Amino acid sequence: MAQRHRDHLPEDFSERSLAQDVRAGLTSSPKTLPPKWFYDKVGSELYEEITRLPEYYPFAAEREILLDHAAEIVGAASCRHLVELGSGSSEKTRALIEAVLATTPEGEQAAYRAIDVSDSALHAAADDLAARYPTLDIETVRADFEHGLAQALAVDEGEVFGGRLVVFLGGTIGNQAPDQRAHFLTTLRSDLRAGDAFLLGADLVKSPDVLLPAYDDAAGVTAAFNLNVLEVVNSRLGADFDAADFRHVAVWDAEHAWIEMRLEAVRDVHVRIADLDLEVDFAAGEQLRTEISAKFTRERLQAEFEQAGFAAAGWWTDRANRFSGSLWTPA
Ligand code: AVJ
Repeated sequence: MAQRHRDHLPEDFSERSLAQDVRAGLTSSPKTLPPKWFYDKVGSELYEEITRLPEYYPFAAEREILLDHAAEIVGAASCRHLVELGSGSSEKTRALIEAVLATTPEGEQAAYRAIDVSDSALHAAADDLAARYPTLDIETVRADFEHGLAQALAVDEGEVFGGRLVVFLGGTIGNQAPDQRAHFLTTLRSDLRAGDAFLLGADLVKSPDVLLPAYDDAAGVTAAFNLNVLEVVNSRLGADFDAADFRHVAVWDAEHAWIEMRLEAVRDVHVRIADLDLEVDFAAGEQLRTEISAKFTRERLQAEFEQAGFAAAGWWTDRANRFSGSLWTPA
């Protein structure tokens, strides 16, 4: 089957936006770094390891939803075209792809478009899927859906018959602050057409006794994952962070309903970021925020999606009610 690739990002996209994010984040008060820079090679491997930890339930819970309900989800959306935002390895999406293939009538074409910033992830996923599903039409798009959603979702006239199911899995929506999320949903809504649907994987509010260990595991893998972002800044921007100067902190912020991951300076720290010609000081005890991971209720998602012009079209959870899959259509 045809395999196509489009690239909407300049060659130096990643370097430029890392530099901008680090300068803005380390000169603001309190200091912050966006979570997207966790995922270099080591960070991606550590995240994989996190997904296998006994404390980290979101991955297994979402996979359970997809394995148990893919046919129902695809039936409710009644689409032949899957589009995935932040597709990564596309591994969990296979359940949806198989449901689409199983319901595509003869003479019609099932298609999958993967959208991600990582070229290597896109190509590895596309090769794997092409080998597994020879009849699937596969397209990879290298794009940053935070800024380039319209381009990433664009279709050539006549290319798509019937609607598309756009999926955003993993609970990654939780990384966005409420205002970013509202903007994302409104933009997404304006890029969808009648007949399209949107499937969201989102983590649910639950006891801090379950939430906190998921972000501060006994084996220290999440701590290593968090601290690794300092190595990313070191290797890509010539900084001289010493990870031993910081410790991993996870906090449940009940008011905002999100987990915050932070790196706390264990002593006064002075850092030089050579490529930015920037010097930064941390006072002992000062915390750098590296991630928010928002948790949702069904009511809250409903309100935010309605606000953005969507109507509810389906709701699924894992058997232990920890994680949600929700389907939305343009209202
Ligand atoms: C990949 C964003 C869904 O927020 O749970 C895992 C990342 N951070 N452990 C999450 C993460 C710490 C993860 N997401």
